[in-house]
Formats: sequence, C-alpha cells, structure tokens
Amino acid sequence: MITGAARLAGVVGFPVAQSRSPLLHNFWLARHGLDGAYLPLAVPPDRLETAIRGLQAAGFAGLNVTVPHKQAVAALCDGLDAAATLTGSVNTLVFGADGRCLGSSTDGAGFLASLQAAGIDLAMAAATGPALLLGAGGAALAIAAALLGRGMPVLVANRTRARSDALAARLPAPAGRVAVIDWESWPDRLGEAGLLVNTTSLGMAGQPALPADLSRASDRLVVADIVYVPAETALLAAARARGLAAVGGLGMLLHQAVPGFSAWFGTTPVVDDEVTALLAESVGRPAG
Ligand code: ATR
Repeated sequence: MITGAARLAGVVGFPVAQSRSPLLHNFWLARHGLDGAYLPLAVPPDRLETAIRGLQAAGFAGLNVTVPHKQAVAALCDGLDAAATLTGSVNTLVFGADGRCLGSSTDGAGFLASLQAAGIDLAMAAATGPALLLGAGGAALAIAAALLGRGMPVLVANRTRARSDALAARLPAPAGRVAVIDWESWPDRLGEAGLLVNTTSLGMAGQPALPADLSRASDRLVVADIVYVPAETALLAAARARGLAAVGGLGMLLHQAVPGFSAWFGTTPVVDDEVTALLAESVGRPAG
C-alpha cells in the first residue's frame, strides 16, 4: 500500500540493478502491511551529493548505499556510528526529523547476527580460539572490528601481506588481540582457531575455489563464508563433510538490512525461512 503519507527509502548505487535490497525491503513492507516504498536509485558519482541532499529534501526517511559510493557518502554525513567511523564506509543513512543525516555501517553487526541466527555461540567459539580471517578488504575490516568488539582475538591472512598489515593497523585493539599471518600459513593455524571466516572473493561463482584443507581444524571450529553465490561454497561443503558448523553468506546479506528498515519504517523485520528462500532464489539467477 502506498498512500500520500507513505514512508520512502531506497538504495543508491551505480549501477544499482544488481542490488537485491529493493526485493528484500519491499517484501518486508508487504508482509508487515506498511505504508511505504523502497526504490532502486542509480546515481553516478558526480551526482552523489546532489542526489543525497535532494532525496533528503524530498522527505525520504533514509537510504542504503552501495558500490561505488560507500566511502564517498561518509563525507556527506552529519554523524557516523562507531563502525562507520572505523571502516570509513557507510551502507545505511537515516535522515532525522532534525535535518541531520546519520551514517552507519551494518555489515559487521549483520555478520554477528547471522552467526547467532545459525545457532552459533560466539563466546564458545572464542573459548576454543581466535578467529582466523581470510582477506583484507572492506568486509574483512567490518567483520574484524565486530569480532574484536565481542572480545574475540583475530588472526588475519591475506594474499597481499601489505593489505593485511594495513587492516590490522586500523583496528583499535589492545596488543595481542590482532595478529597478521602469512597467506600460505593459514591452514596450519586451524588447530588453534575457534572461527574461520572467508571474506575473500575465492569461492564466488566465476572465481577459483578457496583451497579448503581443513584437516588440521579443531572439531569445534565454526566455518563461515560471506560468499552467497553459490550458497554452498566448496569451503562450506568441506566443513560440513568434516562435521563442522558451517554458516553461509546469505544471512549477513539479510541481517545487515534490518537496522535500516527498522529506522525508516518503524518495524523490526524478521529474517525467517521465507525471506531467506526469496533471496536465495534471487541471488541464484542474474539480476538487472
Ligand atoms: P571487499 O569486497 O571485502 O572490500 P576486495 O577489496 O575486493 O573485498 O578484496 C577481495 C579479497 O579477496 C582480497 O583480500 C583479495 O586479496 P588481495 O588483497 O591480495 O587482492 C582476495 N583475493 C582475491 N582473489 C584472490 C586469490 N586468487 N587468492 C587469494 N586471495 C584473493
């Protein structure tokens, strides 16, 4: 239902046709019978500020922000949450009644929520050992910060060592909570880890698989892959074959969307089997 009083939000990206956010948010709007709409908004980089200010002036409740605008939009915000400040990246904007534009980064919290929804007890995993994080891009930084925030030490391994060193330097962790290890050595560290997280692009459809030798893993290791196409990567299959808990990337995609929806539309949406199946079906075929 869209009346003259509808609440409006959308996703700003360039291109934007690949985004599954309109499908997800409009599903939730319909399910909860809310008077609102969520639109895909293709905005080229040189029109970003004009578009954000214009949408705010037009009464939008807020926006999601995706590639390539996640960093640039931070400079347009009047305030940033702790995760956005740390990562320099914003994926959610909330336009306040006071005219302020607040930016947040919900990827790290979305990752933690996806573990919890999969029945993983992070405190138990942390009691087994540190998180072994593969990759050093934006997702790795958000997830490392979130895990450290829950008191879990992090070992970072990335093909390009300079990037993992730079990532570690950005994390506000007490000495000993973050360590960088060589890319080649990560399988040797599995025996001491409580959580393995793949944030690299290895295993994505069209990319090579992550060489997944889990033979040295502890029986209590939890394996998470933020790749969601395919839903079951070779890494997750190897983990399940060894009897380890395995968590795919679709949950993070769903849970990172929850804070924006609740802020804009005033209802906290539920991530359940039905919406998970909807997204799984959508990401399984090309969009746009
Ligand atoms: P994000 O989307 O998280 O910001 P990104 O910046 O695109 O990610 O980074 C992709 C990650 O996959 C990087 O950690 C990259 O390693 P490099 O920093 O060495 O480029 C990793 N990656 C991509 N292809 C890889 C490969 N063939 N082997 C190992 N790591 C790879």
